[in-house]
Amino acid sequence: MRLSIINGPNLNMLGQREPGIYGNKSLKEIEKGLLVLGEKYKIELDFFQSNIEGELVDAIQQSGNRCDGIILNAAAYTHTSVAVRDAIAAIRIPVIEVHLSNPHTREYFRHTSLIADVCRGSIAGFGDESYTLALLWFERQR
Ligand code: DQA
Repeated sequence: MRLSIINGPNLNMLGQREPGIYGNKSLKEIEKGLLVLGEKYKIELDFFQSNIEGELVDAIQQSGNRCDGIILNAAAYTHTSVAVRDAIAAIRIPVIEVHLSNPHTREYFRHTSLIADVCRGSIAGFGDESYTLALLWFERQR
């Protein structure tokens, strides 16, 4: 099994960015933790982060041909991007929407996800464990 872990804008700043909301771990540290889990379950992981909407669209399309699933934190594009939504709808593999924080407990503009209904499911509010939980779901599908 091969999964693609795709992170959107400002998630390259994790660790420094609003740690009270997003935690103290950097994206590299989160990815390292996922690699350990991936090794345990024999799941290959590809990592991609971009601040650019079109690059996220490209990564989703390419993962659709190459991987068995996507764990996607589209970050702010969750709430704004029809292009990211359409890319998810265009591929056949399951996509899990993840968020470190729980957007529903935050500002009103974070309450809408343009991607939730084209994703297999959503996991939010568990810090970096949101990614772990998504990976475990994939592991259990085998
Ligand atoms: C986020 C939540 C989004 O609302 C926000 O724009 C982010 C991060 C999260 O992981 O909690 O950048 O996706």
